[in-house]
Amino acid sequence: MTNIIKAQKGTKDILPAEISKWYNLEKKAEEVFSFAGFKEIRTPIFEATELFARGVGDTTDIVNKEMYSFEKSERSLTLRPENTAGVVRSFIENGMHRLTAPVKLWYKGPMFRYERPQAGRQRQFHQVGVEMFGIKEPSADAEVILLAVNYLKSIGLCDLDVEINSLGCPNCRETFSKKLKDAIRPYLANMCPDCQERFEKNPLRLLDCKVPECNEVLNSEEIQNVITSEYICDECSEHFNKVKEYLDALNIKYSVNRLLVRGLDYYNRTVFEIKSNNLGSQNAVCGGGRYDSLVRHLGGVDTPAVGFAMGMERLNSLLPDVEDNKLDIFVVSSSSTEAFKVVNELRAAGFSADFDLSCKKFGKQIEKASKVASHAVIVCEDEIANNTVSIKDFSTSEQKTVSRNDYINCLK
Ligand code: HAM
Repeated sequence: MTNIIKAQKGTKDILPAEISKWYNLEKKAEEVFSFAGFKEIRTPIFEATELFARGVGDTTDIVNKEMYSFEKSERSLTLRPENTAGVVRSFIENGMHRLTAPVKLWYKGPMFRYERPQAGRQRQFHQVGVEMFGIKEPSADAEVILLAVNYLKSIGLCDLDVEINSLGCPNCRETFSKKLKDAIRPYLANMCPDCQERFEKNPLRLLDCKVPECNEVLNSEEIQNVITSEYICDECSEHFNKVKEYLDALNIKYSVNRLLVRGLDYYNRTVFEIKSNNLGSQNAVCGGGRYDSLVRHLGGVDTPAVGFAMGMERLNSLLPDVEDNKLDIFVVSSSSTEAFKVVNELRAAGFSADFDLSCKKFGKQIEKASKVASHAVIVCEDEIANNTVSIKDFSTSEQKTVSRNDYINCLK
């Protein structure tokens, strides 16, 4: 036992007892997203490292600290830490800008980030997400937020907090960053090392810091005045107001959080997160926003875009466990050959069915049948001799014997 190899820190097996919950999240995603005209896309799990460095941004924690990168044939490759960059790469490479806009895509699958594992935070985790290309109007932002809310409702999560913000355009960002830096400069020495770095490389991320000393600075009246001041241009403001108007019309409750800046560099204008009070410090189940320059930035034809991704482990942790589905039928027989034949006929007719491969005693087989299936089909000596089968319904304990030629119809 000393040499047992264990799963890596921050990774988890998804065991058979949990798989129904996962199937449900995936099935509902397929239903809700395809009802809204989104088509599934599956991109590779590893990509050129450069895609994430350029796409997600080389001042972000994801790119600086959290990527699983490795060399193969002198190329640097990275396990995807998120899927927006990969979907954008595919959009460009496959000429999807030539399709009629909007191009609506959804995806699910594993992502990899070398983060410190804790409740709700893994090194391999799963996301389900959507990306919509080609629409610059605020209706696309609202459509994507609506879709996120409707997906959450469909899986039984209705009472979550939607937070939105607008980061404005690059011009607004530059003016605001300068104002923020001027206000924070006198207090910078008291802030954490990460913030000292962010101050130079990506000042907006200063708003995102959770360290108490930094929070104290951010909460001071002087800095709050800067944060809450008019910070976006008229055009960005109009865009944001229209998004809010749509959400109001759709009865989607939200709050505006000026500190919401998101940890990825590609966003402009609308950003949003959906959070739960029941998740501790890692409380975001969904994060997304608009990224109008990413397609151009990665070499494609200028195309506006907006999307979101949700953490599937976090969704699952908010949902009750589901009971495993029982089999339709367990075949009980004194002859494994007969059992094989009957199981095969049942499966071909669309029933889930199984039997005892080691042909144990009748009592043991029927006991197992009652635990794993709703019905037993019994084919023992009498039944074989008379060309019949007996069907036992475990919910009523009723048993009846029918012709072997007609038992499938009786079961149906
Ligand atoms: P993100 O906020 O980095 O955004 O991740 C989205 C969601 O993935 C989070 O809200 C969280 O639920 C889950 N998540 C992230 N990291 C972990 C982790 N280490 N362990 C467990 N769950 C995690 C993105 O990934 C963007 N690509 C979203 C997007 C799509 N923006 C536009 N389109």
